[in-house]
Amino acid sequence: MTDVAARLMAAARAAAAQAYAPYSDFAVGAALLFDDGAVITGSNVENASYGLSLCAETNAAARAMNEGRRGGLVAVAVARPKRDKGEALITPCGRCRQVLNELAALGGTDPVVWCSEGDGMREFTLSQLLPHAFGP
Ligand code: THU
Repeated sequence: MTDVAARLMAAARAAAAQAYAPYSDFAVGAALLFDDGAVITGSNVENASYGLSLCAETNAAARAMNEGRRGGLVAVAVARPKRDKGEALITPCGRCRQVLNELAALGGTDPVVWCSEGDGMREFTLSQLLPHAFGP
């Protein structure tokens, strides 16, 4: 595990503390690293109308785009802080893969995606998680 990976994962774990997930009790944090060194985080925000819940990765990407970012995405970390349900690998859901792809594709990058698995992590690229993506 590189230092960059460990630090980005720590940011994702910290972001999960802000999750609003009373319905699933499944807090998730995401951290996006950009080519200028900026880190933008997000957490999942659920809704009493369950299907309206927003994932951590989507919230992080929306935050970044609302700050004017259009590309430059070099890495993503997704964390599910270890608890009873926290042992398993967590990867971005299908919608989040597509949302991340839009931001990445605007800058022509294929970001590395670090996914927490218990206390550790597994490494993928976005193109591995979303092959032959439909993009801008
Ligand atoms: N969730 C995320 O925030 N990111 C993922 O990659 C998977 C799922 C959220 C959505 C919902 O609030 C909770 O986790 C349980 O599915």
